[in-house]
Amino acid sequence: MALAVCLSCPLALLVAGLVQGIGGQDPGPRPLELKEVFTLFQIQYNRSYSNPAEHARRLDIFARNLARAQQLQEDDLGTAEFGVTPFSDLTEEEFGQLYGNQRAAGRAPNVDRKVGSGERGESVPSTCDWRKARNIISSVRNQKSCKCCWAMAAAGNIEALWAIKHKMSVEVSVQELLDCDRCGNGCSGGYIWDAFITVMNNSGLASERDYPFRGEARAHKCQAEKYKKVAWIQDFIMLPENEQGMARYLATEGPITVSINMQLLQNYKNGVIRPAPGTCDPQHVDHIVLLVGFGKTKSGERRQTEAVLSQSKPRPRHSTPYWILKNSWGAQWGEEGYFRLHRGSNACGITRYPLTALVDTPVKKRHTISCPP
Ligand SMILES: *[C@@H]1O[C@H](CO)[C@@H](O)[C@H](O)[C@H]1NC(C)=O
Ligand SMILES: *[C@@H]1O[C@H](CO)[C@@H](O)[C@H](O)[C@H]1NC(C)=O
Repeated sequence: MALAVCLSCPLALLVAGLVQGIGGQDPGPRPLELKEVFTLFQIQYNRSYSNPAEHARRLDIFARNLARAQQLQEDDLGTAEFGVTPFSDLTEEEFGQLYGNQRAAGRAPNVDRKVGSGERGESVPSTCDWRKARNIISSVRNQKSCKCCWAMAAAGNIEALWAIKHKMSVEVSVQELLDCDRCGNGCSGGYIWDAFITVMNNSGLASERDYPFRGEARAHKCQAEKYKKVAWIQDFIMLPENEQGMARYLATEGPITVSINMQLLQNYKNGVIRPAPGTCDPQHVDHIVLLVGFGKTKSGERRQTEAVLSQSKPRPRHSTPYWILKNSWGAQWGEEGYFRLHRGSNACGITRYPLTALVDTPVKKRHTISCPP
């Protein structure tokens, strides 16, 4: 851990220098420098490759990703920085296969009649960050090789709402959602409502401690009967598909789940992503995360490494409104496991499927719901 902390600074500087070399008419990065950066990446993220040919191939992919990160940063209209991430040795295709949840978009069951309150005129605070309230948001999870963003986002939603309602923090079992899900596909992906239907059908969820996350080591049997339940939901609803309505619900009720296009997240490091027009197609959502807050950058706020990036364009002088989202790729990724997206432009399809569980008192009775067609 200490090693990773020591490395992060020289890595950032080296990469900044390197990235300058990649862009424009420069002769390109010095091979030695690129190799050094790659070695630091391997140490920081514990990566080893089976043979020299594979090592060479990953080094090549790494170089392409750095060049792509540089381009993304130039094109971004917010304050986002792109660069070396835990996914820098994967091609875009591999990243999509490993983390893309093809079941993020689809017709939600019966949710049309379940639209949440969206009274107009009610004021929305200018900022909201549920992480600042004590014991509401659980620690950042890591889905690793299991495509279970849907279960992790749902777990985060239920935990937060349970803590807000009952002033009691809980960590619920994602593994129970995966093992007992009869509508989705466990570690191969699922819809967000698959998780909520599973909770209702099991009449509650066990704790993470009793029923811990194992990913897809092997197929597990559903052990819902075996452990004590710690949280329940009444139902789930689809929220108004507009950012004002989402902000109002978030501020008054608590964190909600959203589906987004994850394309720009492979190379994301920090800051507010504001995709250039035509990038991050809002129709193509393939990842589910938890929305935990919103705010605005101070006007004139610059990127952290702006000083060393001579080619950067001037930053927007006005402040940038953003959403704060909790991801499930570990705390080493992004802003300690979180990221920020521009608010007000349906960035990366954030308004497509805002859903939330409804949490009240324990529900001892099993709701038998069938899987949506
Ligand atoms: C590093 O990776 C190897 C296998 O690639 C694994 O056995 C080891 O436990 C990992 N170490 C850490 C600290 O994650
Ligand atoms: C609900 O639970 C029952 C009993 O465990 C199971 O047979 C059924 O497949 C589940 N249905 C859904 C939709 O999860």
